[in-house]
Amino acid sequence: MPQPPSRRTFLRHSLLGLGVASAASLTLKADAQPTESSGGLGSYGDYLTNQGESIDTPPAAVESNPKWTATEPNILGPFHRERAPYRGKITPPLEPGTVLLIAGTLWGLNTRKPLPAVTLDIWQANAKGRYDNDDPRNPPAPDVFLNRARVLTDEQGRYEYETIYPGAYQTGPNVWRPPHIHYLLRAQGYQSLITQLYFKGDPHQTKDPFIKNSLIIQLESHQRDQTTYQSGTFDIILAPA
Ligand SMILES: [Fe+2]
Repeated sequence: MPQPPSRRTFLRHSLLGLGVASAASLTLKADAQPTESSGGLGSYGDYLTNQGESIDTPPAAVESNPKWTATEPNILGPFHRERAPYRGKITPPLEPGTVLLIAGTLWGLNTRKPLPAVTLDIWQANAKGRYDNDDPRNPPAPDVFLNRARVLTDEQGRYEYETIYPGAYQTGPNVWRPPHIHYLLRAQGYQSLITQLYFKGDPHQTKDPFIKNSLIIQLESHQRDQTTYQSGTFDIILAPA
C-alpha cells in the first residue's frame, strides 16, 4: 500500500511547486515567451513621480539614535547553513506559530549612516524549537531551507521580514536556549557580525548562559482578522574593519 508522504517530502514538493527551489536546479522551458506587458505607466507614472519623497531622500536623523555602540556579537551555534535563498519571508507557507514581523535599519558605526545592499543571513528554530538540520539522521535536502533566509537592506539601510515566534530548546540539564533568531552579516569595510535577537519577557532567558541584554527587544502584539501577530524593531550597528 502506498505510504503517505512524510512532512519533509510534502514540504519539499510544496516548495518546488511554488518555485522556491535553488537557482541551480531551475531551467526555463525551451518554448518560453517573454511575459506580456500590460502597457506603459501612463498616469500612474505621473502619480509616482509627483509624490515628493524620492528614494534619494536622506534617512531620518541618525543622531536621535541613543545607542551609538556596535551591536554585540553572540554565538554562531551549530545550525547555520550557507546559501539560504533571498526572500522576505523566513518560514515556509503556513508554518505553525505566531506570526512575527521584524524590521530594522543597518548602520555604520564610523559613518553614522545607513548601509544599503547588505545581506543579512537569518536562521531560527521552528515553534517547537527544532532546526531543519538538527537531526543528523534526517538531514534536509541541499535545496530546501526551512526557517532560514537571506534578506537584503534597501536603499536606506532598512530591512524587514516575516517569520514566526521561535520555540525554545533545551541544551543540557536545566539549560535552555530561549527563543532567538540568528543573524550573520558580512558588509564590505566592516567587521563581520554574528549575533542573535531575543524577546523581552521569555521565561527561558534565566536558564541561558549566552543571552545579552542589549540583544533583547520588546515585541508589540497586534490583532487582525481574529489573529494575533507580533512585531518588533532590531536596529544593527556594524563596527568598521
Ligand atoms: Fe539557535
